[in-house]
Amino acid sequence: MKERTFVALKPDAVKRKLVGKLIERFENKGFEIIAMKMVKLNREMAEKYYEEHKGKDFFENLVKFMTSGRIVAMVVEGENAITAVRKMIGKTNPIEAEPGTIRGDFATKTPENVIHASDSKESAEREIKLFFKEEEIFSE
Ligand code: CMP
Repeated sequence: MKERTFVALKPDAVKRKLVGKLIERFENKGFEIIAMKMVKLNREMAEKYYEEHKGKDFFENLVKFMTSGRIVAMVVEGENAITAVRKMIGKTNPIEAEPGTIRGDFATKTPENVIHASDSKESAEREIKLFFKEEEIFSE
């Protein structure tokens, strides 16, 4: 089933100049990037984006990190994109992420774990809406 998922390349990925390498992985896999923009999140936007983690002990640190620099936001489309992209990025904690996954290959800790991708259909819809207007998404 063709699906859309939301992917964000986090401030550490942009600072480390990994943007090209990360995009290449999704294109190599056969997914299509149907929307993309560079954004500097403010506190309000970051809190909204991560509202499901509000109250958790890592929330403050996460918001601080996510507002520390530019991110690249994308909508990635393809067969089973939500599950497949989560597999490609690997476990949240980079120490548990398998080599070959993005976090397994590029990260050592949280919250600086390089990339985020939606974990469900509901989050994908919510996150895509938060970052993109309908006319900014290109689909045939
Ligand atoms: P992400 O997939 O974007 O979802 C929530 C983010 O919170 C996660 O990646 C990490 O960057 C960050 N984070 C920091 N500490 C933790 C933790 N203990 N558990 C889960 N996420 C964490």
